[in-house]
Amino acid sequence: MAVADPITISLTTDEIALVQDSWAEATTPNAANGDEPATAIASILYNGLFSLHPELKELFDDINSQSASLGAVLGVAIGALSDIESITPALESLGKLHGRIPSVQPEHFDVVGKILIATLSDKFGEKWTLELQTPWVKVYAYVSGRIVASMLAVRDANV
Ligand code: HEM
Repeated sequence: MAVADPITISLTTDEIALVQDSWAEATTPNAANGDEPATAIASILYNGLFSLHPELKELFDDINSQSASLGAVLGVAIGALSDIESITPALESLGKLHGRIPSVQPEHFDVVGKILIATLSDKFGEKWTLELQTPWVKVYAYVSGRIVASMLAVRDANV
């Protein structure tokens, strides 16, 4: 364990509710086409990442199942916001997994974060306010920060 642990998140009860309610709204299954919306959002994230970094595409065996996994992780993290530390071990294992894939870099997580916010902002239109965006940015920074920190720690340990 590092001496200092700088990856923290501080959310008010209202902010937790804003993120949880907006995620629930954004991921309500669409009866018309049977899509799983969390997967659909995640696949937008990957497609956006590939448009900037096409070389990453070959790392993925099956982008659909991958999108489902990423959507599920976001859902679990958002569900656990009142006790986010409870999922830290899961985020750290994910970090170790990403650490074993050399071409995955911290800046790719920043790209995914920007696309996530842009996608939500698009989806919510004028209902997307700074009040809503601020806690979303904090949540993604926490989730990706935890993953990236263990990803880099694994790589450091292996050099
Ligand atoms: C917050 C952001 C992210 C989350 C929550 C996430 C989550 C996941 C999950 C759940 C898996 C599957 C783990 C398993 O199979 O047990 C995975 C695998 C993977 N992720 Fe991520 N990921 C994120 C960002 C990224 C980024 C930015 C990249 C950059 C290229 C990336 C590349 C990969 C690759 C290459 C795999 C393995 C794919 C395969 O084996 O087919 N991930 N990720």
